[in-house]
Amino acid sequence: MTTRTRDGSAGDVDYGAIGSGYSSYRRPDERIARFIAEALGDARRVLNVGAGAGSYENAARAVTAVEPSESMRAQRPTQLARAIDAVAEDLPFTDGEFDAAMTLFSVHQWSDFRAGLREMRRVTRGPLVILTCDPALVRGFWLYRYAPEVLETEARRYPPVEELTAALGGTGTVQTVPIPLDCTDGFNEAYYGRPEMLLDPAARQACSAWSFVDDRVRERFDRTLRHDLESGVWDEEFGHLRVRPTCEGSLVIVRATRVSGA
Ligand SMILES: C[S@@+](CC[C@H](N)C(=O)[O-])C[C@H]1O[C@@H](n2cnc3c(N)ncnc32)[C@H](O)[C@@H]1O
Repeated sequence: MTTRTRDGSAGDVDYGAIGSGYSSYRRPDERIARFIAEALGDARRVLNVGAGAGSYENAARAVTAVEPSESMRAQRPTQLARAIDAVAEDLPFTDGEFDAAMTLFSVHQWSDFRAGLREMRRVTRGPLVILTCDPALVRGFWLYRYAPEVLETEARRYPPVEELTAALGGTGTVQTVPIPLDCTDGFNEAYYGRPEMLLDPAARQACSAWSFVDDRVRERFDRTLRHDLESGVWDEEFGHLRVRPTCEGSLVIVRATRVSGA
């Protein structure tokens, strides 16, 4: 059963409380967009579930967006279609209505990801595309040194990729998505080579995992990272990341086509 906040948020965070700056810090990245476009193939009618402010919606396709949070819907650029107020677990569409469906940085927030994926499968004839993080890999990021609580939260929230592929009927493929050094979509790992960015509280707020930890964790993170940047300790160990053009971290695309006969 999905419960909703006053803002309509239906996942494990209340975007009415933390969502206001989302679209300033989480701008779609064109390099990541290419991976999504390739996974969608030549689909014309595309469903975007947990669409937020509309990142990665391509005007060349007919996109239907579903987004439960009013604060997120309000951040959609005017040239995009209005998002429908609904939840993944109960989609208001008929069977096989879409050529493809995608859900980007969202599935880990749903109250029942299996039910949501079942719904996406029901309403889609072609591929399902999930952009998400592999929880087995999230602790590999240097942030773990400074705020392990944040990445432990991520490791708990993201469904294991095997569970995603199993929920999709076992036909899924998993592809690592390289993160560009100047990635414009500010999820935590996007700052792998720009640690100073994570000292900006608004940048952190655009990554929902930070809302699960208390002020003490945030203060300790700020103090210790700031100290290591000033003393050169961070650069000694991780400075090579400042010039690494891409980083393979935990970001993956899980893609599944319909099982024949299903
Ligand atoms: C991190 S944002 C990602 C937004 C957008 N897809 C993007 O890539 O920028 C997660 C989104 O998932 C939405 N969401 C959470 N639970 C949901 C659910 N049960 N059904 C549909 N959307 C949900 C949130 O409201 C939020 O807009």
